[in-house]
Amino acid sequence: MKAVVYSRTGGPDVLQLVDREVPLVEAGEVRVRIAVSGVNPTDWKSRAGATANAGESTEVDPEQVPNQDGAGVVDDIGLGVTRFAIGDRVWVRDAAFQRPTGTAAEYTVLPDHLVNPLPDGVSFDIGASLGIPALTAHRALTAREAGPARLSPGSLVGTTVLVAGGAGAVGHAAIQLAVWAGATVITTVSSPEKAALAAAAGAQHVVNYRSEDVVERVQQLAPHGVEVVVEVNPLQNIADDIAVIARGGTIAIYVSGEPDEVPIPARASMTKNVRVQFVLTYTTSEVEKGNAVAAVTAAAAAGALDVGDESGLPLTRFTLADTADAHAAVEGGAVGKVLIDVASL
Ligand SMILES: NC(=O)c1ccc[n+]([C@@H]2O[C@H](COP(=O)([O-])OP(=O)(O)OC[C@H]3O[C@@H](n4cnc5c(N)ncnc54)[C@H](OP(=O)(O)O)[C@@H]3O)[C@@H](O)[C@H]2O)c1
Repeated sequence: MKAVVYSRTGGPDVLQLVDREVPLVEAGEVRVRIAVSGVNPTDWKSRAGATANAGESTEVDPEQVPNQDGAGVVDDIGLGVTRFAIGDRVWVRDAAFQRPTGTAAEYTVLPDHLVNPLPDGVSFDIGASLGIPALTAHRALTAREAGPARLSPGSLVGTTVLVAGGAGAVGHAAIQLAVWAGATVITTVSSPEKAALAAAAGAQHVVNYRSEDVVERVQQLAPHGVEVVVEVNPLQNIADDIAVIARGGTIAIYVSGEPDEVPIPARASMTKNVRVQFVLTYTTSEVEKGNAVAAVTAAAAAGALDVGDESGLPLTRFTLADTADAHAAVEGGAVGKVLIDVASL
């Protein structure tokens, strides 16, 4: 099979297209023939060694196939696997987290709990866009103590959510999941083009944080405050978040910054009994992950987690051989979703 691998951390040029044996399944495992591989910032950061031994080129042994997200078809199952049959359409999550078996390859073998049925009518493009962005967004939207643990239609009726960065991949998923669950969504963006994307995703209110006063606008739109903030840039936004949050509201932070410390106004936070929830999708609990997978799959089946221009998430496509360019595009801040076409299935 064709696979992209790296055996040292570094720039996109460490990625090599190679031929490897098709991997065999063991008990409890599923082999997936990948149709589309999704690229997220975490993929280039891992490849660059940005999360461990930052900046140094270190050996990666065994060689690593990058990319956490993907979608395709079940190609083989190991003993004891009962959830799948050969030929089932699936989406996968966390394929390269603490395992060398990412989705930038024609086949990947994963334990069956990392493989999820892709509902009828849901494209491989959508399936390859769910894992990191939508599962992160789901955890952020359910971090509020008084809120639902699993989103479903109606579960956020009466709730106002502020999504920072509504044209980003996680921001887009947060808007779509919150709207599906019945929330009122206010989102921030940096340009009219991104405002159009956030509106296409379904946000009822879009605020340009460069040209408008975010606190004033959000307070007008939500006089009693927003119950949940999904925050992509806490270093810039935390004071505004606390200014606009409702009593008992939750700020869910899924990005660290430089410096890696967020100065949180303590008195104002205490006055409103604010909860700050840090989120790293990889290490959410199995219960949280299970809730997220179930809700995200249901939202996708309902057509609520769409991708493409008309849904506010433009797609940029690469071939498997051009995986390095796909990583560079994400690192360069490509707007929307970067996908790799692995096979036409
Ligand atoms: N903790 C986790 O589990 C987790 C999961 C997924 C992603 N992440 C991280 O989250 C970050 C975003 O990921 P992504 O895939 O969504 O990336 P993305 O598609 O590039 O989106 C990032 C968005 O944030 C916006 N943004 C930046 N500063 C902002 C600000 N002050 N206010 C409002 N919006 C702002 C950007 O637009 P403008 O600059 O134009 O405003 C952009 O639209 C990455 O650092 C990624 O590694 C973490």
